[in-house]
Amino acid sequence: MTTTHSFAATLSECATAVNATLDRLLPAVATPEGRVVEAMRYAALDGGKRLRPFLVVAAADLFNVPRERALRAGAAVEMVHCYSLVHDDLPAMDDDDLRRGRPTVHKAFDEATAILAGDGLLTQAFEVLADPATHPDGAVRAALVTELAKGSGAAGMVGGQMIDLQAPNLNLDDAGLIRLQSLKTGALIACSCRLGAVLAGAPDSARDALGAYGQAIGFAFQIADDVLDVESSAQVAGKATGKDAAAGKATFVSRLGLEGAIAEARRLVEQAIGQIEIFGPAAEPLRQAAVFVIGRKT
Ligand code: IPE
Ligand code: IPE
Ligand code: MG
Ligand code: MG
Ligand code: MG
Repeated sequence: MTTTHSFAATLSECATAVNATLDRLLPAVATPEGRVVEAMRYAALDGGKRLRPFLVVAAADLFNVPRERALRAGAAVEMVHCYSLVHDDLPAMDDDDLRRGRPTVHKAFDEATAILAGDGLLTQAFEVLADPATHPDGAVRAALVTELAKGSGAAGMVGGQMIDLQAPNLNLDDAGLIRLQSLKTGALIACSCRLGAVLAGAPDSARDALGAYGQAIGFAFQIADDVLDVESSAQVAGKATGKDAAAGKATFVSRLGLEGAIAEARRLVEQAIGQIEIFGPAAEPLRQAAVFVIGRKT
């Protein structure tokens, strides 16, 4: 209980710093294209747990990376995450009207603007990573860009979203379902952890351990999301619930039942914690994050 409470406070402190970074990176503009910037700000500011930037910062802290660099890399991942939510909510995808307790971007603006706002956030994320303010060494910046591109693209989140949309007709076996979840949610969360190591120029073994930790908590995170879809309400979750089964979504809840899915998520959290044992006591924030992903209410 105390652990959970103090972790919530740590996460929220990090979120405040991430929000300030995003606010600086996305200044409003008064020219006609300002509408898309306004929609990008609407999508990226004021809300969300900021778990992915927290993971970048916590992983980077293992190697004493300057906080400003980690926050910029974290803001870049959050831009990609926010873009993925804007597009995920579109009528052509999950068709949702509520996100983070507010109307989705296509409801607050319009569909075309939501598509462009997502495009703008995705593109700007890479501009942030390519900026010398994120890291003075060009080779490190190129490695950051590659990591985020792999985590976000067809071999990562976008690929997972493609499988998710086809899943009702695919008859996925267990391995197929694991692959869907790993790509859709695990890839960007694993990428967040790996970025912390890349910022530090840490050895491959450290980067891969953090990536394996991220994959496992990412998977547990999506199971928790699917459990919330069944157990929570729009008022608490800030987004529509009770939609996955009706939409024929392939989830571990539909496969294993609620109890089985929760047990699997717990097993994944233990697995994740095992991956970061090598970092010793310094990895405590990451251990707490692993426990948090399955206990969260939003
Ligand atoms: C929601 O992500 C989409 C999933 C991958 C399940 P989050 O639960 O991290 O959403 P925010 O950023 O906190 O709103
Ligand atoms: C979306 O998963 C994951 C993304 C890559 C955006 P969901 O469709 O389950 O996320 P929510 O429930 O809308 O947040
Ligand atoms: Mg979806
Ligand atoms: Mg959705
Ligand atoms: Mg969901």
